[in-house]
Amino acid sequence: MAQIFVTRHIPDIGINMLRAAGHTVEISKKNGALTHAELLDALRAYPYDAVVCLLTDTINKEVFDAVPTAKIFANYAVGYDNISLTDAKDAGVTITNTPGVLTDSVAEFALSLILAVAKRIPEADAYTRKGLYDGWAPELFLGIDLKGKTLGILGAGRIGYEVAVRAHHGLGMQIVYNDVQKSAVLEKETKAVYYTTTEDVLKNADVVSIHVPLLPSTTHLINADRLKHMKSGAILINTSRGPVIDEQALANALKAGTIRGAGLDVFEMEPKIVKELMSLQNAVITPHIASATEETRNKMSAIVAENINDFLVGEIPNNVVHLA
Ligand code: GLV
Ligand code: GLV
Repeated sequence: MAQIFVTRHIPDIGINMLRAAGHTVEISKKNGALTHAELLDALRAYPYDAVVCLLTDTINKEVFDAVPTAKIFANYAVGYDNISLTDAKDAGVTITNTPGVLTDSVAEFALSLILAVAKRIPEADAYTRKGLYDGWAPELFLGIDLKGKTLGILGAGRIGYEVAVRAHHGLGMQIVYNDVQKSAVLEKETKAVYYTTTEDVLKNADVVSIHVPLLPSTTHLINADRLKHMKSGAILINTSRGPVIDEQALANALKAGTIRGAGLDVFEMEPKIVKELMSLQNAVITPHIASATEETRNKMSAIVAENINDFLVGEIPNNVVHLA
């Protein structure tokens, strides 16, 4: 029987699965993310065997040293840029994530942001609620149509693929994309055109949706220079990780109107948001909720539990990103 620490409450299903396997589960009682110091204190309190952590927890050498007994950290997220894999390797700790189950939710959310920006829904909703609607007008809140327009996908993994499929078959958009490798399945399913550079995607797309992991090579993938390559009427969507965009540069472009709009679910210095973005009408901003559906957050919880339960009986978990 193992002792497991969970850094913040997650949906019960996974907790119940861990307990049903005979393990003791201690869940942080704080109603919020632990600070790094609180995390270290919590982990030093007991020789835990496993830890469930969140994308808001920075997991590095200090953390592994605080609980040397824990040989698995199961991240409640698909992205694992919050974890130093080098430090995990040095500490002999296995790392798992929750891919697959959130793909559809995030793809639907990216589509929602595309539509919200193109049709100006949040802006129009705010206007209507303010009591400003005084009758139908020919040019009230003119948006753009998406049919026949080009969607540029940066990062054609599972999520990028599902966004492209929905946009192509559902909205009638043409697809262009860039990734470190070509995707035969994407090209077959959507007639997508591959470009070897990010710039070529930006030059040709009316809507650009980002689905890359956060890596040194993707940090500020979209910067002031690259923004200049985008069409003047273009829309930029980010449901991946905030630091992929130079947020200040994007705010400047939105303010100057050099691109049409942006839909952002993630921010460079989360939860802080560049000040200008807060007041720009052409930015739709949401609090990192792309995977936040009842179905998906439950499935993520179950997967985290499966990863830990498998590991603790000596099996290789299904979703290993680093196996010690
Ligand atoms: C959410 O952002 C995740 O990586 O799961
Ligand atoms: C993440 O699930 C991805 O591969 O896009």
